[in-house]
Amino acid sequence: MKVNGRPYQTVWLDGSTVKLIEQRKLPHVFEVASYATHHETARAIQEMVVRGAGAIGAAAGYAMAQAALHAPEARFHDALDKAAGVIRATRPTAHDLFYAVDRVCRAASCANSVESARMAAVRAATALAQDNARACQAMGRAGLPLMTPGLRMLTHCNAGWLAFVDWGSALAPVYAAQEAGIEVFVYATETRPRSQGAKLTEWELAQADVPHQLIADTAAGSLFQRGEIGLVIVGADRIAANGDTANKIGTYTLAVLARRHNVPFYVAASRSTFDLATPDGSAIPIEQRSEDEVLYVWGRADDGSLQRVRIAGPDARALNPAFDVTPAELIRGFITDQGILPATPDAVAAYMREPEASPAA
Ligand code: MRU
Repeated sequence: MKVNGRPYQTVWLDGSTVKLIEQRKLPHVFEVASYATHHETARAIQEMVVRGAGAIGAAAGYAMAQAALHAPEARFHDALDKAAGVIRATRPTAHDLFYAVDRVCRAASCANSVESARMAAVRAATALAQDNARACQAMGRAGLPLMTPGLRMLTHCNAGWLAFVDWGSALAPVYAAQEAGIEVFVYATETRPRSQGAKLTEWELAQADVPHQLIADTAAGSLFQRGEIGLVIVGADRIAANGDTANKIGTYTLAVLARRHNVPFYVAASRSTFDLATPDGSAIPIEQRSEDEVLYVWGRADDGSLQRVRIAGPDARALNPAFDVTPAELIRGFITDQGILPATPDAVAAYMREPEASPAA
């Protein structure tokens, strides 16, 4: 996608350096950050320089490639295992991160010399990032039939291109509609406490010239009630075998509202987000983040400086679960690279048996 008219991806590898769009400073400052080692890239994932399931998956894959490039020959496989542990420990919920680490480890372990293992790791990480962008584009095509002219839809958090390598999941059908000349309007929830909707989704929709409006999370119910929302599409961080879906905190509330008001609620996700080893939503690990994210807000002051200010009283304590689980029964379907599937265990199992979408698809 384009930033100020110039094409970008969110994550890429330049030699052995990982480059990431610095998402913590958006929308106020656009900056590309560079990371020389897998330890640095892992810290960037943990501190949310890069965030969003697909983007952290791609960054984790490249971090593994960095580990393979730098591991000493004498203890190559030990060093790689250790690096995998460091990267896996960064964030617990998004399945894409674990998928990426495993995929690069597997590629490296099949090689018959250390030199070829290093190259295999780089190739696997690069292929993973390319697959990620390609799957998102395919999700856009799959969701296009839902994009009727004049539609007003709602999305939550940021499941646009900043959350992947390119295109996004929930917003991919919106970008596909734009290419097809179909105008849709997007309501973006601000998504407290980290405000990915206010900081990221609003910014990327503005960059793409998609008509949109930001709403406070608390405004959603009233918009549903007034018939302003015709469709909801959200992303996913992990989808269990039965279709229960972990996504940004607040997603479950929107799914309940959508059901109450008979509005179709879809989840857009690629194969790397589905986790057949997790039987249902109760087994999905939910990240608990710092209470400071609730107690403080960060943004640009009127004098132009970037500031963090405390909004709660000096002694306030906060609870900050980063994700919630939407039961499969509230989900109309999964928008995937292979089309729209019902949110049922059988459909999920059949999808996971399909070969990945071909580059030409
Ligand atoms: O904590 P984040 O920003 O990494 O959360 C991930 C998300 O942005 C959302 O949950 C999103 O809807 C799924 S990622 C495509």
